[in-house]
Amino acid sequence: MRLRDLNIVITGGTSGIGREIVDQLVGDNQLIVMGRSVLKLADLKHLYPGIRTYVCDLSDLADVKRAGEQILKNHTQIDVLMNNAAVQYTPRFLDDDFRFEKIEYEITVNFTAICVLIALLLPGLRHKGHRAIILNVSSVLGMVPKTNSAVYCASKGALNILSQSLRYQFEQTDIRVLQAVLPLVETPMTAGRGKGKISAASAASSILSGLEKEVSDHFIGMAKYLRLIHYIFPPLARKILKGGSPS
Ligand SMILES: NC(=O)c1ccc[n+]([C@@H]2O[C@H](COP(=O)([O-])OP(=O)(O)OC[C@H]3O[C@@H](n4cnc5c(N)ncnc54)[C@H](OP(=O)(O)O)[C@@H]3O)[C@@H](O)[C@H]2O)c1
Repeated sequence: MRLRDLNIVITGGTSGIGREIVDQLVGDNQLIVMGRSVLKLADLKHLYPGIRTYVCDLSDLADVKRAGEQILKNHTQIDVLMNNAAVQYTPRFLDDDFRFEKIEYEITVNFTAICVLIALLLPGLRHKGHRAIILNVSSVLGMVPKTNSAVYCASKGALNILSQSLRYQFEQTDIRVLQAVLPLVETPMTAGRGKGKISAASAASSILSGLEKEVSDHFIGMAKYLRLIHYIFPPLARKILKGGSPS
């Protein structure tokens, strides 16, 4: 898909990888950026007046419904939906600072909101006679978990299965479902932890090159090697990721 003159919806476009994607796509496309922070969205709009912004807290499904319906009303054709926003909490279940109240929040932002958004925006994605892509931003931890962030790993695992199942469901349509599977990236999500991170700019350009080539499961950087190791010798991949830096 040529990344030009497209209507592109992106969640989490105000920080990290999403923000870099916005920087790299703006100008050539109509960007529709969903974010939870009014201030951050206003700053982005100030920098790029041509973008459209929608305030939406993905942890609140009623808000997702409201924002999704508003987007559909204003943009009847959507070419790309990039499900990029996510949160990651690192405490282990046995840790004193583990908060069970955050479980539902993390699952809702990382998984349920994505299901809801896809369902809501389908009429725009399924606009007669045009191809559309749903791109889910994922992690190697959705295939092989690390010890920390169990709920995050599980939410990315669920996203992986969702992506595969939706591919079957959309076989007779013009909608393609892609996944970008990232290694550890330098962003606010991974601040102060992990080694050997790639930059958010490099992660963003790799994601966009996979989108352009329509790679179904696009393993980026180290994620490519981890996938290979997991294929050849699963126990080694589990050992590498168990102590885990990939996010
Ligand atoms: N960084 C890594 O090493 C890494 C590795 C593998 C996969 N990934 C994936 O890459 C994607 C982007 O992550 P990142 O590293 O760029 O993280 P990030 O810098 O923390 O950005 C996450 C984005 O999600 C948004 N967000 C969080 N909670 C939200 C909510 N309740 N409602 C609406 N938006 C919300 C944030 O909004 P605010 O701007 O308001 O904070 C932010 O824009 C995620 O799917 C992540 O799982 C990252």
